[in-house]
Amino acid sequence: MSMFEKAPLRLESSYRDAISHFATGVTVITTTTESGHAGMTASAVTSLSLDPLQLLTCLRTELPTRSAIELSGRFAVNVLGAHAEDLAIKFATPSADKFAGVPLVGGHPVPVLREAIAYFVCDLAAALPGGDHTIMVGNVVDCGHRADSQPLVHFSRQFSEICTPATHERQARQHEMSW
Ligand SMILES: Cc1cc2nc3c(=O)[nH]c(=O)nc-3n(C[C@H](O)[C@H](O)[C@H](O)COP(=O)(O)O)c2cc1C
Repeated sequence: MSMFEKAPLRLESSYRDAISHFATGVTVITTTTESGHAGMTASAVTSLSLDPLQLLTCLRTELPTRSAIELSGRFAVNVLGAHAEDLAIKFATPSADKFAGVPLVGGHPVPVLREAIAYFVCDLAAALPGGDHTIMVGNVVDCGHRADSQPLVHFSRQFSEICTPATHERQARQHEMSW
């Protein structure tokens, strides 16, 4: 038996390595309660349904943003652009005031980050158990996006960006200009 005891740990480590090869976008999930704003970086975000308009995000159950969303009954998904790595790191690091110095767009019931390339404001439709995470299903009540934006990408535990022919060309021009 003892020679097999470590198998689950090995599987967990293989799982973490393998799932890190599933490239994702990066978002900041936000909400507001009487205690103020709460927010965290999340890549587990998926479009769920068109009728009704729903998306979901999976948040570790013990995290303060997850409980704040259940308290407020709504949240925003802020999709980060290619140059917003600093925001991704800021909102993935526990801190008393993650929103200090972060510009917001006014007029929304939950924080919408000015730097977001797309946002979705959601009413919480369901909070379902998912192992050590909670699956937060949201009814989308408002959304928007910036045309011509580039996303921040997370792949193999690193931030990166999509290399389209346009970005390739721009980089090549920058390279030429640096000589
Ligand atoms: C790129 C990236 C993606 C993440 N995605 C998720 C996620 O989908 N769900 C989750 O629960 N935590 C995710 N995290 C971890 C949380 O952002 C981190 O635990 C954060 O500190 C939690 O909020 P807190 O600071 O209020 O505790 C991610 C972190 C990074 C850097």
